[in-house]
Amino acid sequence: MSDAVNKAAVTFDFSNTVSIVTGSGGGIGQAYVEAIAKAGGSVIVADIDTERAEGVAEGIRSNGGDALALPVDVASPESAAEMAAATIEHFGGIDYLVNNAAIFGGMKLDALLTVDWEYLERFLAVNTLGALNCTRAVFRSMRKRGGGAIVNQSSTAAYLYAGFYGLAKAGVNSLTQQLAHELGGQKIRVNAIAPGPTDTQASRTVVPEEFMTPIINGLALKRMGTPDDLVGLCLFLLSDQASWITGHVFNADGGQVFRA
Ligand SMILES: NC(=O)c1ccc[n+]([C@@H]2O[C@H](COP(=O)([O-])OP(=O)(O)OC[C@H]3O[C@@H](n4cnc5c(N)ncnc54)[C@H](O)[C@@H]3O)[C@@H](O)[C@H]2O)c1
Repeated sequence: MSDAVNKAAVTFDFSNTVSIVTGSGGGIGQAYVEAIAKAGGSVIVADIDTERAEGVAEGIRSNGGDALALPVDVASPESAAEMAAATIEHFGGIDYLVNNAAIFGGMKLDALLTVDWEYLERFLAVNTLGALNCTRAVFRSMRKRGGGAIVNQSSTAAYLYAGFYGLAKAGVNSLTQQLAHELGGQKIRVNAIAPGPTDTQASRTVVPEEFMTPIINGLALKRMGTPDDLVGLCLFLLSDQASWITGHVFNADGGQVFRA
C-alpha cells in the first residue's frame, strides 16, 4: 500500500459510501479504488479484465477493505446496467462513480485520417461514450440516496495533438460540462481530472522512452507523474469538500499544459 493511499485515509472519510471505479484492474484506476477503500468506502473494482479486477479486490479485502470485483464493458449499456444492478444488490446503492476505463495500454498508434474506421468507432464508444453510458446506469441510484459525485478521467492529450486519443478525451471534457448541468439539480456533481504523462504499465507500452524523455523535459516539474500523484485530487473531487465544484476539468500534470 503506497504513501498516497495511506494519506488519503487520514484526509478523507468515505465510510458508509459506495463507489464504482471503472478500469480499476490496474494502473491509475487501481490507485483510486485502493485509496477510496483505505478511506473507509465500499468499492466496486470494475474492469473488462475480470482476472485483474478480482486480484485488486482481493488485495483490498486482505487489507481489511470492502471490495467486490465486477466485470464491465463500459461501451455496452446492458453491461453497465448489470454492473449498477449488481452494485445495488451487493452494497444497497451507489454514491460515487469514477469513469477511468479506457482503451489505452496497447492502443493503436495511428492518425485520425488513416486509423481503421471500426477501431475508431470502438475506441470512441469506450473512451468517450463509456463515461456517459456508466453515468446513465448509476445516476438514478445516486439521486435516490440524495446526491453523489462523478469523476471522469480525461488527459492533457485533450489539449495537445494526440490524434483520436486526444479527440476522445476532449469529448470527455465536454461530457463533464454537459452532464454537470443535467445532473446538478439532482445534487450530483461531475468533474474531470486531466493527468499528464503518468508512469503505469500501460503508458510504458504506449509511449516509448525516446519519445517520453523530451515530454518530461518539457514539464515544469521535470518528472513523470505516478498514480499516487492523482489520488488526492480524485478523492477531493468526490468528497463533500468539493461540494460547490462541478463541471470542471482539473489538470494534475507536473505543469505540462497551462490554460490562461
Ligand atoms: N498513464 C498515463 O500517462 C495517462 C495520462 C492521462 C490519462 N490517462 C488515462 O487514465 C486512465 C487509466 O490509464 P492507465 O495508465 O492506468 O492505463 P490502463 O490501460 O492500465 O487502464 C485502463 C483500464 O481500463 C480497462 N478497460 C479497457 N477497456 C475497457 C472497457 N471497454 N470496459 C471496462 N474496462 C476497460 C483496462 O482493462 C484497464 O484496466 C485512462 O482513462 C487513460 O486514458 C492515463
